[in-house]
Amino acid sequence: MAGGTESRHGMWSNRWLFVLAAAGSAVGLGNIWKFPYIVGENGGGAFVILYLVCIALVGVPIMMAEVIIGREGRQSPINTMRHLIKQHHRSPAWTLIGWSGVVAGFLILSYYVVIAGWALFYIMQMGSGALEGVSAAEADHLFSDFLADPWQLIFWQTLFMAMTVFIISRGVIGGLETAVRWFMPALFLLMVVLLGYAMTLDGWSEGVNFMFRFDFSSITPDAVLAAMGQAFFTLSLGMGAIMAYGAYVPSSASIFSTVTIIALLDTLVAIAAGLVIFPIVFTNGLETAQGPGLMFVTVPLAFGQMPFGALFGTIFFLLVSFAAITSAISIGEPALAYVVEEYNAKRSRVAITLGAISWVLGLGTVFSFNYWAEVEILGQPTFFDFATFVTDKVLLPLGGMFIALFAGWALPGTVVGSQLGLKEGPMGIIWKLICGVLAPAAVLVVFLASLFG
Ligand code: PFF
Repeated sequence: MAGGTESRHGMWSNRWLFVLAAAGSAVGLGNIWKFPYIVGENGGGAFVILYLVCIALVGVPIMMAEVIIGREGRQSPINTMRHLIKQHHRSPAWTLIGWSGVVAGFLILSYYVVIAGWALFYIMQMGSGALEGVSAAEADHLFSDFLADPWQLIFWQTLFMAMTVFIISRGVIGGLETAVRWFMPALFLLMVVLLGYAMTLDGWSEGVNFMFRFDFSSITPDAVLAAMGQAFFTLSLGMGAIMAYGAYVPSSASIFSTVTIIALLDTLVAIAAGLVIFPIVFTNGLETAQGPGLMFVTVPLAFGQMPFGALFGTIFFLLVSFAAITSAISIGEPALAYVVEEYNAKRSRVAITLGAISWVLGLGTVFSFNYWAEVEILGQPTFFDFATFVTDKVLLPLGGMFIALFAGWALPGTVVGSQLGLKEGPMGIIWKLICGVLAPAAVLVVFLASLFG
């Protein structure tokens, strides 16, 4: 049964568990691995400002739109859209939002699990003391040797996928909620410890300066698209993950305050990750624009050279793995909930099947670093680049744009008003302006500018 006050998949025990679960989905590799390296590639401060603007002006309203739609339909994104379309006599084409989310979910999960597997490998490496006192060349070698060995990558990918499937199988309360109850507080605590550590480093002020200086010369249309794409990725928006989680939110929770808290937590963790990584980079005279290797080469190297580095390094990669698993479990939720609904299937069986499909797709990413390193896919240097390009820069922004348009124009104002607890009047008009006009227009402009810029 669609709509109503309960979802058949279960409900978050209270509003705070939704905050933890959604923050768990949002805070992940996007914050700790990707955010610092994109900041590094785009020259620091000015990019950070762009990103913050995208989060506030586009991310928050679209996240609200996803929760509104999800809570109104109380099903998987595909069936929620079908239900709302039927109820309000809208075009069936809107269901494409749900389908594009499922495709994006498979692609993201497939590479996400591979990268998260690297973090598991580095827990072992740091913990065993293998990186103590290594030189930059040695740290670099360790990483490139690791990437060159597909069997190693497959081993860690498989382990991480198995952990993800295990948690998902246990259901919304037993699996998802239990995981975030433990992992999220641990993550925040570990982050504070590492931040305290970074503050003691010689490169602290240089790192802070790099993150917050205003050098606007590095702003290009591509940088703006990267900031926008990162805002969607980091908040888990545009593919229905938050919509799916929104279906399990109790009717009494306030959407605006809940979403604001989630976006703030996500932003704080990303900024904190930058403030941990860049001081390490500067203290050791390393490169900021290293790309995806930034975390996996410079961080182990830096920790390997510092007192108690093995301990802090292990903590760091544990933190990355916690963050990654609470995100990974959300990426498959839209597809999983849909199959469960359509075929009345057992959640655990569906989880295993979807995990297996995504694992196979993930081999494309595994081989992007060895066998297929030279194989271009549709103009992108590797399969991995193709998967990240299609998801971050195309499917998520466009999906988000249509979600905002749906919430802004296709859903009746009374429905949105009652979800937001707003009466007719100026607040309703402001909402419509932001969600129906401003946010989708911003996505479109950025998208077109980078396409033709
Ligand atoms: N937000 C996650 C991160 O920053 O790592 C990634 C993600 C999770 C993207 C869930 C999309 C999604 F649906």
